Amino acid sequence: MDSESYFDNVASQWDGMRRSFFADSLRDKLLHIAQPAPGMTAADIGAGTGFVTSALVDRGVKVIAVDRSLAMLRELAKKYPQVKTRQGEAESLPVEDGAVDLVFANMYLHHVQRPAVAIAEMTRILKPGGRLVVSDLDRHNHEFLRSEHHDLWMGFAWEDVMGWLSDAGLEEEQVECAGEDCQADSVGGGDKAKVSIFIASGIKR
Ligand SMILES: C[S@@+](CC[C@H](N)C(=O)[O-])C[C@H]1O[C@@H](n2cnc3c(N)ncnc32)[C@H](O)[C@@H]1O
Repeated sequence: MDSESYFDNVASQWDGMRRSFFADSLRDKLLHIAQPAPGMTAADIGAGTGFVTSALVDRGVKVIAVDRSLAMLRELAKKYPQVKTRQGEAESLPVEDGAVDLVFANMYLHHVQRPAVAIAEMTRILKPGGRLVVSDLDRHNHEFLRSEHHDLWMGFAWEDVMGWLSDAGLEEEQVECAGEDCQADSVGGGDKAKVSIFIASGIKR
């Protein structure tokens, strides 16, 4: 099964799976960094069933939710019919240049082929002065996250992420520890992962 089919297959169960992987408190930390205000427009990239979207909707932010999985977007749309959903790919997001105030990408980067290109593409859709907030896994060595969860990357080194933010034309770039972990057990029970989460952010020049 490829990654696309995997997310199509788990879409109806994703909310429960997500809760078992990481806590709602991660979302509060993303919003604290992004400081969304009512009336702003945000893009939630690799939105899944709307973990980040939900908090933005609650704060009066207009959201464009992008994901390659239509099944995930359908689950999101059932809960948040007011949100614009767009099926799209990491390297060619279906959003115009400079269209949004904020871009979020939670637990998405380790699924894309070319993280540097994905970050540049998310930066493209930001207005000047807009903020990108990317949350993902620190480096780890849990092979089952690739074989069972279809991760492409075994987390990231902060210096690589900082370089990608800077190359994309972001300033005030920073990477910090979220103080949250992502936890999962392998199906066979042979391995248990508990991987720390980072939050990277930067402002478009
Ligand atoms: C681990 S889930 C995270 C979902 C959501 N952000 C959350 O925190 O619950 C990763 C999401 O990224 C999407 N995705 C993976 N690769 C993608 C790509 N190349 N382009 C667009 N979306 C992608 C998947 O379909 C999936 O919904």
